Amino acid sequence: MTSVAHSERPRVLVARAVFPDIIDLLREVAEVEATPDDAISTPETLRRRLADKQGAFITGSERIDAALLDACPLLRVVSTMTVGVDHIDLAACAARGIIVTHAPDVLTETTADFGFALLLAAARRVGEAERYLRAGQWTKWSVDLFAGADIHGATLGIVGMGRIGQAIARRAALGFDMRVLYHNRNRLSEAIEADCGGAQHRALPALLAESDHVLLALPYSPQAYHLIGAGELALMKPGATLVNIARGGVVDEAALAQALHNGRLGAAGLDVFEGEPAVNPVLLAAPRLVLTPHIASSSLPTRRAMARLAVDNLLAVLQGRPPLTPV
Ligand code: DGY
Repeated sequence: MTSVAHSERPRVLVARAVFPDIIDLLREVAEVEATPDDAISTPETLRRRLADKQGAFITGSERIDAALLDACPLLRVVSTMTVGVDHIDLAACAARGIIVTHAPDVLTETTADFGFALLLAAARRVGEAERYLRAGQWTKWSVDLFAGADIHGATLGIVGMGRIGQAIARRAALGFDMRVLYHNRNRLSEAIEADCGGAQHRALPALLAESDHVLLALPYSPQAYHLIGAGELALMKPGATLVNIARGGVVDEAALAQALHNGRLGAAGLDVFEGEPAVNPVLLAAPRLVLTPHIASSSLPTRRAMARLAVDNLLAVLQGRPPLTPV
């Protein structure tokens, strides 16, 4: 890469601590303000730090809204290392001619792996069983000790059949001999349905009623707010499992906790939360619920690939080339 003279170099904020060797690629062409302590900026701090920058490298924890953009007149590109973009006001960016890029594809398989891990852990009660053992409560083998639900041969309903939903469907059909139903805004082509183990499209109520396990993998939008509430949970099969790797706002957490307490649901697994990183105490008190801190894409190779793609997008825009993965 050709180094750019110091005076012409654009300024970029890397808003969180990111693999230094990957950020070094940015330093070849830009003045980088890094965040080595990984502190989360308050909205005011983020505004101040971005005020003189042309580029922003962000994660899902940094909110980019109109008020912030108004304070950052030089900003040309916002690159998030996430695939989800619900933390960015896309219309406000477009109105100001700011390019937004994200990080699709590189996390698909890793995230699908984790969706399955959460499904298995919830339905087979892995978390409870481990806590029980560690607490020294295991005194004998018992016939129904932590007896859970089967995954293999069951019906999986996937809500949101984008790249990640499809990768989950392939695992379900090929690896676990599951029947796959899906709900999506648009029905997929027959070729994609066939590739996803003969996945069948359903309206949401039908999917909820027919599935033994329901997995949420849809992108977040205001229309998805509390898509799964008390009414939807009541449609699910008694003893069914619910897994959410989408965004916390998709599920009414109080209704979910209630459905677990009253035994209507068999189990649930959540990787995302409405107020994360704060977790609603009703969830912490609910039985048969596996909780993880938004780590579905967190394998080391994948997090590195996400960061690299975010840097490559920044470099492209700052050097006058089209971004690799614009939103
Ligand atoms: C994403 O990329 O949107 C994930 O939720 C963050 O890992």
